[in-house]
Amino acid sequence: MEQVTLLENEYSTVKPFIKWAGGKQALAEKLIQHFPSDFHTYYEPFIGGGSIFFSLSPKRAVIADYNSWLVDTYNAIKKDWIKVAEILDTLPNNKEDYLEIRATLPETLPTYKRAAHFIYLNKTCFRGLFRVNRKGMFNVPYGAYDRRYYDPENLRQTSLRLRNTEIRQGDFELNLYGAKKGDFVYLDPPYYKLGGHSDFNRYTDQQFRENDQIRLAALCSELDTQGVKWALSNSNTDFIKRLYNFFNIHEIDARREINLNSSNRNIKELLITNY
Ligand SMILES: C[S@@+](CC[C@H](N)C(=O)[O-])C[C@H]1O[C@@H](n2cnc3c(N)ncnc32)[C@H](O)[C@@H]1O
Repeated sequence: MEQVTLLENEYSTVKPFIKWAGGKQALAEKLIQHFPSDFHTYYEPFIGGGSIFFSLSPKRAVIADYNSWLVDTYNAIKKDWIKVAEILDTLPNNKEDYLEIRATLPETLPTYKRAAHFIYLNKTCFRGLFRVNRKGMFNVPYGAYDRRYYDPENLRQTSLRLRNTEIRQGDFELNLYGAKKGDFVYLDPPYYKLGGHSDFNRYTDQQFRENDQIRLAALCSELDTQGVKWALSNSNTDFIKRLYNFFNIHEIDARREINLNSSNRNIKELLITNY
């Protein structure tokens, strides 16, 4: 009994092991306030860096993402974080090595090395962006940052946290199977942008287009019919408000401290819920 309590305490301090565009770390507390206080299994099909998942620390979870390199990295950390860390320790932080590592196709690498390369590139590339070209080749320039690639204690806790978590790869529509009444789903898709899709290929080799936003809204209606509770983040745009006008739309203040005195002062985003 005592041991379980100890592990649960450990979980709550876990931080994302990567920096991820659109990461929700700064908003985690505000968003979680709107979540149901009680549910059976937690589903998060656009997991990215997992800031909400790690903050919430649910007892049972299913997480997924379309980005297979990212999903492989979660799996490798879950299975044996020490092997990932040992490889990371051998990767030098300089432009020449960076370019060589960047040029290595992830699918040609064994599991743990693939995960280590993913974390390495995320920590050493310019601004920690993930961006690939049409061939799926990572193409962000070198960032020349002098920082640790990982915190051993955090990686260990991440691995523990993933023990009671099922990890899936693929499109969101395929990865919510099993969700039923009493479960809770948090959805954080690439945001809708005026013009219909995100401005560059971040996250995956595919764009998330207007049609994908429509597919997602249809899936949310379907979940609602099945009695599954969900919350979805998206941009504060008329298109999104129209798509979800049968549900509860909350405006969330998403300004960052850094923008307090700038023209970004009034940045709002939406959290839409069916409960
Ligand atoms: C806004 S990010 C999620 C950020 C995450 N909440 C965090 O805190 O880091 C959106 C995620 O959706 C993933 N994605 C893009 N298209 C997808 C699709 N069709 N199905 C599932 N995931 C997808 C991307 O790879 C990316 O990780």
